[in-house]
Amino acid sequence: MQYSLMELPYPKDALEPMISARTLEYHYGKHHAGYVEKLNGLIKDTEFETKSLIELIKHAEGAIFNNAAQVYNHDFYWTNLSNKPTKPSLELESHIRSEFGSMDAFEKEFQTKALGLFGSGWVWLCIDKQENLSIVTTSNADNPIRSGLIPLMVCDVWEHAYYLDYQNARAEYLANFFKLLNWKFISFNFANHQEHAQNYFSHVCKENTPYCEYLDSLEEMEKVST
Ligand SMILES: [Fe+2]
Repeated sequence: MQYSLMELPYPKDALEPMISARTLEYHYGKHHAGYVEKLNGLIKDTEFETKSLIELIKHAEGAIFNNAAQVYNHDFYWTNLSNKPTKPSLELESHIRSEFGSMDAFEKEFQTKALGLFGSGWVWLCIDKQENLSIVTTSNADNPIRSGLIPLMVCDVWEHAYYLDYQNARAEYLANFFKLLNWKFISFNFANHQEHAQNYFSHVCKENTPYCEYLDSLEEMEKVST
């Protein structure tokens, strides 16, 4: 099995002025594409060739883990951004309020952790099996699935995500990142987190609901060729 670069759910200039088309040219077109190409080279003719991204993230080590996780992390990042205004579901908003005090307090804590992450990495909103929410930072390619957590939302804080637009002003990038969030996707992840942990990007929808239609569109983006 060979992976292919996901299709972006919006045009490359759709996130401007917060994230420029030039950044997407490099971040999506060079960095993300590079991880896909490298992963395909690494797994070809090995026991990992038939594994899903989730399985690679859970069980692979070294370069295969790093590149598989970076493919997943970037798929997740682009999908949790939107060029259209969205709102969290009432259930998710209520859960965030009860865990963090308010939506503003959640945003502030997320940004504080993102600013405090030394070097390259990711900042996640996760949920655990006891339904507790947490903001988790991971370094380099690392992914919270590895620790048994279920990701709901992510921000890429590698410099390649923002340097062209913001240079070293990570705080400014983070503030604008929140304006671009795809709360529809994040709410979907919250509503389906039990299945999501095992089957992200490979769900089989059994119901004819808006969520299933949305899921189908995600699957379309994550085309895998054989
Ligand atoms: Fe990135």
